[in-house]
Amino acid sequence: MTAAIIAPSDRPVSWSLRFTLGDWNTRASVRTSEHDYLLPPDLEQQLETRHWFPPGFLAYLNHPAIEALGKTVIHRLSANHLVYFLDYTTVLEHRIVNRAVETIIHGELKVNIPPRMKTAALQLYTDEGYHALFSNSLAEQIAGVYGISLRPVMPHRITRLNTLLERTPDKHRALAWFLVGFVSETIIAKELLDVCRDDLVSSVQAMLREHLADEARHSRYFSEVFHYLWLTMNSRQRTFAARLLLDIIRIFFEVDERWLRESLYGAGIGETAVTEVLGELTSPQATLLRARSGAGATLQALKKAGFFDLPYNQQLFMKAGLIDG
Ligand SMILES: [Fe+2]
Ligand SMILES: [Fe+2]
Repeated sequence: MTAAIIAPSDRPVSWSLRFTLGDWNTRASVRTSEHDYLLPPDLEQQLETRHWFPPGFLAYLNHPAIEALGKTVIHRLSANHLVYFLDYTTVLEHRIVNRAVETIIHGELKVNIPPRMKTAALQLYTDEGYHALFSNSLAEQIAGVYGISLRPVMPHRITRLNTLLERTPDKHRALAWFLVGFVSETIIAKELLDVCRDDLVSSVQAMLREHLADEARHSRYFSEVFHYLWLTMNSRQRTFAARLLLDIIRIFFEVDERWLRESLYGAGIGETAVTEVLGELTSPQATLLRARSGAGATLQALKKAGFFDLPYNQQLFMKAGLIDG
């Protein structure tokens, strides 16, 4: 279906965006999954060859002082990381993504929301509730296996996003929420795709696969909605959005230093090794490299919406090192 909208600062634009989650009724995990997300009975055997979390994502496990401690410690650190990731996901889905989705559903963005876009947002909201449910279920089981008690109520990233949102002027607050959702939803699909590549404990792998399939739909949807909104924004909103997007993207690639330090100390890693690991992960260069490789879908969506057609935005993102000239 082709629709034409007239945006305040653009010529009439013709497009054929769909604003749907496609075959959600027959594909969404909340509608079709048959998994019980219980840890497998042969867990110990699986851990001979499989991982809790892809080692490629946890380069710090290659540090000689950590490697020297052997497989049990490596499994423990990977389990810590997975539980942290799942706890973070549970909070993110409810408190960040679904809050962002509410701005679409309940007319907070003060733009016309086509009925199909609203229906898809209601479906997406349901998906995220289910993702929180299965993420929490596995986190509890794995924390039980290892007696993991270090489970921050508020992961660093969520605190940073909340602070950013609290500091946003009221008139831009709903838009800011939407933009946080947009960045989160366009980043997560790549994140899950990478995480799914290795041989993981079977129920963890199945859960991540289902989440990934849903997120591929979400990423497309949020990109389309961003495009739609971008065309309706006036120049003040666009300037605000450009700066905020940069801040949001940066936050998504920061490391939770405090948690990681505790996780490493808790596994008996010495101070020198901990300092070395953190120094490497938290350098501005390392953060930028992670952002450049992880925010591809977000940057692509911005480009498609015409965001970089404005020289100011192009300069801003080039200066930040996120795009090349
Ligand atoms: Fe999700
Ligand atoms: Fe999602």
